[in-house]
Amino acid sequence: MNLLEVRKLVVKYGDSQVLWDLDLDVAAETITALIGANGAGKTTLLKTLTGLLSPTSGQATFDGNPLFRMPAEQRPSAGLAMVPEGRRLFAGLTVLENLHIGAYARRDAAAAKQELERVFAYFPELAEIRQRLAGNLSGGQQQMCAIGRALMSRPKLLLVDEMSLGLAPVVVDRLAETLLKISAEEGITVLLVEQDIELSFDLASSGYVLETGRIVASGPSSALRERADIREAFLGI
Ligand SMILES: Nc1ncnc2c1ncn2[C@@H]1O[C@H](COP(=O)(O)OP(=O)(O)OP(=O)(O)O)[C@@H](O)[C@H]1O
Ligand SMILES: [Mg+2]
Repeated sequence: MNLLEVRKLVVKYGDSQVLWDLDLDVAAETITALIGANGAGKTTLLKTLTGLLSPTSGQATFDGNPLFRMPAEQRPSAGLAMVPEGRRLFAGLTVLENLHIGAYARRDAAAAKQELERVFAYFPELAEIRQRLAGNLSGGQQQMCAIGRALMSRPKLLLVDEMSLGLAPVVVDRLAETLLKISAEEGITVLLVEQDIELSFDLASSGYVLETGRIVASGPSSALRERADIREAFLGI
């Protein structure tokens, strides 16, 4: 079963078309990768899914319901959460305060406390630094906080935009390991948007390649990994 199905999606900024008849499926309880170079339209797709942008045309079905008819503010409680590009934390708020912002869709304080414990179980380091200001954290800690904040709403689908950007490989490995664990243990579905193809193929069972707003390849990660044209485009080898 697909948790998300996108069909013939067209998105424009004014007269400038960025996504062209995009079709994409995300199977439930899997990690699906969307890889693409700078400016390919990855963030535009994610912003359209969360409702920050409106599509020009096309459909999306999320968990059996038409997504684009749902007001953006209802999408978190319907199960959609985003870990945005550049983390987007509130620098002047503490880790704890940032995490609580992710729980706004959950009005029940006891439930929010339970989610917080869950986030700390996945990221013990966050528990230790919970009173520190987000602006003073390392990039890796900020990314943990951004993922934790998204988890606070107990999402069905986690949209992760360039998790690895600007982080040391050892930090990326730890985040990747935790993401795999979260997906396996909680059945949370992940759409992983990345420029790092090795990371994408390691984590995801299947993937899509986006090139200037069009899907140019898709399939199981094992098959995409073997494609010389993709390796050449992303790694120059
Ligand atoms: N607010 C905007 N107004 C006009 N054009 C935009 C806007 N945001 C993005 N674009 C353009 O849309 C295209 C796709 O941008 P997008 O940010 O979706 O790409 P991306 O794949 O996420 O790239 P990156 O890897 O750099 O994050 C680019 O050509 C970009 O210049
Ligand atoms: Mg982007």
